[in-house]
Amino acid sequence: MTAITGRAERFVYVHGEFVPENEARISVFDHVVLYGDAVFDTACAWGGKVFKLDEHIDRFFESAHALKLEIPLDKGALKEVVLEVVRRNGLQNAYIKMIVTRGVGELPLMSPYNCTPNLIVFAVPYLSLISPEKQAQGIRAKISSMRRIPSECLDAKIKSCNYLNHILMRMEANEAGLDEAIELGLDGYVAEAPGYNVFVVKHGVLYTPAENILVGVTRQTVIELAAEEQIPTVEGRLTTFDLYNADEVFLCSTAGGVFAVVEIDGRVIGAGEPGPMTQKLDQKYLALLEGGGQSTPAYP
Ligand SMILES: Cc1ncc(COP(=O)(O)O)c(C=O)c1O
Repeated sequence: MTAITGRAERFVYVHGEFVPENEARISVFDHVVLYGDAVFDTACAWGGKVFKLDEHIDRFFESAHALKLEIPLDKGALKEVVLEVVRRNGLQNAYIKMIVTRGVGELPLMSPYNCTPNLIVFAVPYLSLISPEKQAQGIRAKISSMRRIPSECLDAKIKSCNYLNHILMRMEANEAGLDEAIELGLDGYVAEAPGYNVFVVKHGVLYTPAENILVGVTRQTVIELAAEEQIPTVEGRLTTFDLYNADEVFLCSTAGGVFAVVEIDGRVIGAGEPGPMTQKLDQKYLALLEGGGQSTPAYP
């Protein structure tokens, strides 16, 4: 038990071993603390099986490679750590995070060289960024007054531990009394949302931004599920006009699944409630998670 929460203590993987969370420590001189120099990935387990584990591990390695960050395990060994962290914590539906930090260097200066990277993996009971009520009713969003950092500055495909741009946009929306922000690129086209990819439904076709996005595992899953239903997806450019005049708009991510946006900038989207396509894709996504057909079992 932890003294603070009274719940069973969790196990976290750090510095090459599983330790109780109260003993899981990293240095204050780690470059993730000093400079936000790290990458991460978030996966989920459903019914004790980790969904699309290879896809998450591949993306994690690609993010790290883009920053010349060395993950201290190979993909097979990391996979085992992820499954073990789910098992050790006795979890069925889990929110799983893997992080690799630049580590500690010779001096606490902004030199990424001669640092020893540090891998952290934890799993907690599944977390959603959206409440069940909002999932059922849909959310209200605003187009952020800020712009997503363009890939020319920091490639949006890198899932880095520097989320300030997203955090500021979410804060702006929340403090305006809304649930979420929609992010535009510097070019004015829709990019994504803080922690989600964006989809538009118009005349039976799905549209989703192709550029300036994190290539979401859920986004790819939605495209595959839509194809099963003979629903075409166009990956391209979307404007705010396309959002305002959509039949349906939805967001998707590992930490929340698929859910509707029913109002943007005071304009009602479609019928002002989760539409049939959003509901169908949400149900198919949940069924896929529950069925475990694309998941790796953590338990024998
Ligand atoms: C910026 C951003 N976009 C999109 C997503 C959705 O990605 P995924 O479906 O892989 O969770 C995330 C997930 O955290 C994210 O951080």
